[in-house]
Amino acid sequence: MTLDKRFIDQFIRVTSKAALASSYLVGKKDKIAADKAAVDSMRSELNKINFQGEIVIGEGELDEAPMLYIGERVGNKNGPMFDIAVDPLEGTNFAANNLPGALSVIAVAEKNCLLNAPETYMEKISTRINEKNVIDLDNTVKQNISNLSDYLNKNPENLTACILDRPRHKEVIEELIKLKVKLKLITDGDISGALLVTNEKYNVDIFLGIGGGPEGVIAAAALDTFNCNFQGRFLFETDEDKVRAKKMGINDLTKKYELNEIVTGDSMFCATGITTGDLVEGIKIQGNDFISETLITHKSSGLKKVIKLKQNI
Ligand code: FBP
Repeated sequence: MTLDKRFIDQFIRVTSKAALASSYLVGKKDKIAADKAAVDSMRSELNKINFQGEIVIGEGELDEAPMLYIGERVGNKNGPMFDIAVDPLEGTNFAANNLPGALSVIAVAEKNCLLNAPETYMEKISTRINEKNVIDLDNTVKQNISNLSDYLNKNPENLTACILDRPRHKEVIEELIKLKVKLKLITDGDISGALLVTNEKYNVDIFLGIGGGPEGVIAAAALDTFNCNFQGRFLFETDEDKVRAKKMGINDLTKKYELNEIVTGDSMFCATGITTGDLVEGIKIQGNDFISETLITHKSSGLKKVIKLKQNI
């Protein structure tokens, strides 16, 4: 079974409306309010669509999030059953501080076809090379860069690696500098970071490092349509996190997930810009209309493009 193309427009509407709602709070130094606006709008738009959705990645578990929590049913209860992963505001700091790169994001998959990711960190790696044994999460950074350099026939000084600028990445960053690899250090937003490998125009050859697990799964849905490579491994800090993960069906806590184990069927992905970033332009308001840009992917039809829309507010 595949996801019917007619849903594309409806899901673009969901993320573009959420982006619009959040855009009013851009630069107001209030990331909670900016997130809440996106969540409220996303939930109400999802509930207008004829489908039976279950949130598998959302704002947290029922005890932490009143809306779009894991397990919440969305859609107007008619139609096909989908798994839904949402990140209504990806880059809360970007929105609060009026910085580039805030997005509103959703990934949709056939029922039981999306890995249920716990709220924990994930070690990730992605490239546009979809061939085994070139890049691997288990290789050293040095090995991966050497393999990538051979495969792309580029010297390491002409390779660019994207990674979150965090103290936990000190050693990896130092190693990349030693190898003379160019860095693209991002302060937040690693869904976008992972997607920069999808097209040579972004000048990123490899994305790596530790970021949010849910963000990893959502990025994987888009990377699948771009036929890119992605691997992820959850990292658990506390015993409580491990118990939660087991309850969500993660039995092997140290498993390295390949992309085809994260997304196992057809999928759609929509990311609308709130503020302008590397992938898409932010929301622009023109009188009673707003203009949005959404990166959309649909696995079964091979659709992957940025769609610019003018809609009524
Ligand atoms: P928020 O939108 O929830 O603020 O997340 C932004 C983000 O940068 C993600 O893209 C990334 O996966 C995660 O935070 C990294 O977490 P941390 O800030 O703890 O390193």
